[in-house]
Amino acid sequence: MTETFTVVNSTLDMVDQLETIQRASFPNLSEAEIMTAAHYAAQIKRFPEGQLAILNEAGRAVACSTDFRTRVDFDHFEHRYIDAVDHNWLGNHDPQGDWLYGADIGVLPEYRRRGLATMLYRARHDLIRRLNLKGHVAGGMLKGYGQHKDKLSVEDYVAKVIAGELFDPTLSIQLKRGFTVHGIIQNYVDDPSCDGKAAFIVWYNPEYREA
Ligand SMILES: CC(C)(COP(=O)(O)OP(=O)(O)OC[C@H]1O[C@@H](n2cnc3c(N)ncnc32)[C@H](O)[C@@H]1OP(=O)(O)O)[C@@H](O)C(=O)NCCC(=O)NCCS
Repeated sequence: MTETFTVVNSTLDMVDQLETIQRASFPNLSEAEIMTAAHYAAQIKRFPEGQLAILNEAGRAVACSTDFRTRVDFDHFEHRYIDAVDHNWLGNHDPQGDWLYGADIGVLPEYRRRGLATMLYRARHDLIRRLNLKGHVAGGMLKGYGQHKDKLSVEDYVAKVIAGELFDPTLSIQLKRGFTVHGIIQNYVDDPSCDGKAAFIVWYNPEYREA
């Protein structure tokens, strides 16, 4: 029988499980960039609607995502992840921001390929519609680029991922969820798997209405 999963807003009693998901999802991130239980607690207090978890039938959190509201300057999008997320405290959350910034998504390895990330993206896009935001932006870490960096520029690598000639474990999945690539962030994180690089990706809310 297939297991049933439920998307919920993250709550304070889940924060240790959320840290476990984070550590399993980003084994190469430096300790300074990892989200801890204390960060998750602060995020839930700051912007509860933006913090999502997926529970399995036993009530355990097996996937989660973190978002905050922001304004976006599409001409100047180069930024460090750790600055955008205020060292994971979400101090830059702007309650009037007209974009949702996707800070994080992770699924426990044994629960991957069952559509859980898709459920989280759907719930995030539902939130964007409910709040009448312009859309979703994120730095999509180019997790496959580290293996190709000696042969391909990051621009050529991303072009091949967009064309479907190469599979990137992060960007290929985000493209399937309707994101487009706005540009390349050269110095996003300290992680050799992506050589520090990310794609600045955008999903536009088709239902956005000017106030
Ligand atoms: C990226 C991640 C969140 C995807 O989670 P997931 O629950 O396995 O994704 P889903 O099952 O919803 O799959 C989404 C799509 O990607 C495809 N996909 C997922 N993993 C894949 C893989 N390893 N190879 C090929 N396709 C894959 C699925 O088939 C699905 O495509 P479909 O909609 O055409 O069927 C998960 O692998 C993860 O936690 N990775 C580590 C953390 C990370 O990289 N986060 C993003 C950082 S910016």
